Amino acid sequence: MAKKNVVVIGYGGMGGWHTRMIGGSKLVNDGYKPPENMENGSDCVNLKGIYDIKEERCKLAEERGIHAYHSFEEVLADPEVDILTLAVPNDCHKDLAIRAMAAGKHVISEKPVTLSSADLQEMIDASEKYGRLFTVHQNRRWDADFLAFKQIYESGKMGYVFNIESRVHGSRGIPGDWRQRKAYGGGMMLDWGVHLIDQMFMMIPEKVASVYARMDHITNDEVDDGFKMDVIFESGLVYRIEVGTTNFINLPRWYMQGAVGTAVLNSWDLNDGEIVLYRDEDEGEVKPVVTAAGLTKTMAPRKPSTLEHLPIPQLNPDVHDFYRNVCKAIDGEEPQIVTHPQMMRVMKLMEAAFESDRLGRPVPFEV
Ligand SMILES: NC(=O)c1ccc[n+]([C@@H]2O[C@H](COP(=O)([O-])OP(=O)(O)OC[C@H]3O[C@@H](n4cnc5c(N)ncnc54)[C@H](O)[C@@H]3O)[C@@H](O)[C@H]2O)c1
Repeated sequence: MAKKNVVVIGYGGMGGWHTRMIGGSKLVNDGYKPPENMENGSDCVNLKGIYDIKEERCKLAEERGIHAYHSFEEVLADPEVDILTLAVPNDCHKDLAIRAMAAGKHVISEKPVTLSSADLQEMIDASEKYGRLFTVHQNRRWDADFLAFKQIYESGKMGYVFNIESRVHGSRGIPGDWRQRKAYGGGMMLDWGVHLIDQMFMMIPEKVASVYARMDHITNDEVDDGFKMDVIFESGLVYRIEVGTTNFINLPRWYMQGAVGTAVLNSWDLNDGEIVLYRDEDEGEVKPVVTAAGLTKTMAPRKPSTLEHLPIPQLNPDVHDFYRNVCKAIDGEEPQIVTHPQMMRVMKLMEAAFESDRLGRPVPFEV
């Protein structure tokens, strides 16, 4: 099958990532090593070029051997262009996506797909009206840490899972660009929250009963520079999502509790964690822990022989499957992986989280 032609709109940080994913590492040398499977580029899409409103970004692309278009209109007018990948600031996605679909192009928007569910509905309407594929790059569905914890959850080996904590922590505040400004769709909910919410919905096959969120404004008054959000599912499962940018000591990336086991992953590294399962074995007499002001048997460590330690599953996902799916979905060979209802559900949960923060209490969702 012939490769489909992609133009990446916006040649900044993420635009660079897309050009490398499509065209291979030979295109870029920006000082860090990408995953090995990005060396050779994509087997289903071809990098037709880029467009960026900043002349110097277009020049840089040309120096790297990438064709640069001179205007957005020029991209739309090129009949050889099949797909536009929008890697521009968040407030630009909607307008560019609708114009591209009206011109007959398929559209991959970077996340967050846009700034509100009302805007998203207009984009979905345009996709239906012009009969073009429209999806969002939820690439973190292919992160190995997420897939490992999804597998642990689905395995049932932890018994009834009642608490999941998914966190990302940094200490540098919000990056010093448009992400600090509300008008551009800044803030950490729209930046990292959108990934972690999408992962949660991919993991838990239940309706959400309520959400309680608190936004942080430690380094920025205008937009959230982090947040803590408890999502309560119908079964009572609590799923905590936390994004922090003022954490000089990180909490674990993942922490999952079941009735007969606990799993933890301290960082992104799959070797930096473990699963501990309870073996149904009599411990005998429990030795108390004596602290400065008392003693406790309840919180004393278990006898090691009553526990089984297992590694975190080692997975090797291929993020190229995202573009592969887009191509097959365009050709009607398989359904789109990141669907419109999924995009809308994530957007509405983010809106509910902002509403919860405004009201200072949990808000109902879906039930
Ligand atoms: N999926 C992911 O893992 C991931 C990671 C980082 C960023 N993103 C998303 O990618 C998008 C871009 O983020 P970034 O970090 O690359 O930002 P960036 O600031 O590094 O790059 C944005 C680029 O877009 C250009 N631009 C702005 N308006 C434009 C327009 N109207 N037409 C053409 N070019 C325009 C800018 O000149 C800049 O070069 C955002 O939506 C962000 O949320 C996704």
